[in-house]
Amino acid sequence: MTSKTGRDGGAGTAGLLLATVVLVAMTLGCSVEPSAQQGQPASAASAALEYPMWETVAPGENASYNQRESLVRRGRLVYIKYCIGCHGEYGDGQGVAAKRLITKPRDFTRGIYKFRSTDSSSLPLETDLYRTIDRGLAQVSMPAFRLMPEGDKVAVIEYIKGFYPQWEERKGNRKRVPIPLAPADLATEERIQRGRVVYLATQCWKCHGTDGRGKRATLTEYTDAWGNPQKAFDFTRGQLKGGNAPEDIYRTFHTGLRSIMPSFGGDTLSRITLNGFERSLEALEAGEAELLQPYVAQFPADGMAVNEMSSSQRLSLAERNSWDLVAYIQSLRTSSSTRAAVLATSRTGG
Ligand code: HEC
Ligand code: HEC
Repeated sequence: MTSKTGRDGGAGTAGLLLATVVLVAMTLGCSVEPSAQQGQPASAASAALEYPMWETVAPGENASYNQRESLVRRGRLVYIKYCIGCHGEYGDGQGVAAKRLITKPRDFTRGIYKFRSTDSSSLPLETDLYRTIDRGLAQVSMPAFRLMPEGDKVAVIEYIKGFYPQWEERKGNRKRVPIPLAPADLATEERIQRGRVVYLATQCWKCHGTDGRGKRATLTEYTDAWGNPQKAFDFTRGQLKGGNAPEDIYRTFHTGLRSIMPSFGGDTLSRITLNGFERSLEALEAGEAELLQPYVAQFPADGMAVNEMSSSQRLSLAERNSWDLVAYIQSLRTSSSTRAAVLATSRTGG
């Protein structure tokens, strides 16, 4: 199976010591090939000087073009070896294994990506693709290629970008969503309870359920941009696809998961108000409104009150609300927290 080859293939070549060698080789422009390729010179130094993989354009003023060309070629070999079985020869996600997979492999020809550090109308950064390839995507078949030589990852990224011809043209418009460092006090009750208020008020529960695992969710069936059914993530168990660190969770809802989950970026999360919260009362368990009252009372009364704030005040409020939301989501993931323990007792097949 392809995913298995992916892991094993990496395991053969990596290791801490080797990593250094690979890095040195990379800087010199030499490739650590997945398979021995036509007339590859053994010496890294000569590879750097002569661009041995160049064939069609003379070196010299086109050196950088030639370098890219050889990178793409190398990427193609990596792709054929490790990715084609799922993502398909044409990068359209129609590899031979795709039929049997519930969550379908990404179709690279449309330039739509879920896991980005850019806003939802932008292409991802190369480092986002790198992260996905390096860590894999939990819950689905996308393997982690942690042990694949760094240079091969870089090369395969260049190759898959090529499936989307507008990449070069659109890449300049990418808007990066800043991801600050997480505060240290995410485990405090104050943050968690406030985060619950944010969670309810922003209506995350409509897709994720009032308990973070689907209870009372009203949006339960939807299809993604590729026409495949999706279900919302259960926060109480398993690894997150985009990563489990607080910064990863922050990034996920600030950037959105294009085609299936909206983004809550910029100062959107400052707009949580007493007024707005009333719309979420229906989602609460009996008695919960009273418990949350002291936290609800900390939010601005209404949209007017938010508008009167300066933009930097709004941003810092959005920032605080965001981290509180992260704190709440993380609390659902550990049974040691009171919130999760309370919820555990009310788990009745949501
Ligand atoms: C066993 C099947 C499988 C193999 C092999 C595989 N992938 Fe994937 N890949 C997937 C699936 C499934 C998804 C979609 C996950 C989702 O939508 O949540 C995906 C998604 C992706 C994404 C998009 C993530 C996003 O932000 O939307 C990238 C990039 C990617 N794969 C790169 C690769 C590369 C590069 C290789 C080879 C080195 C590879 N994959 C090998 C199954 C596979
Ligand atoms: C319209 C429905 C919808 C809404 C509203 C929604 N989500 Fe999601 N969310 C989804 C879906 C669908 C997934 C699963 C995506 C996947 O598995 O690829 C998801 C996944 C996630 C994940 C996990 C992603 C990962 O890395 O595996 C996080 C974190 C998340 N949502 C946070 C939130 C927060 C916080 C809110 C409210 C501010 C919210 N979501 C609102 C549909 C929604």
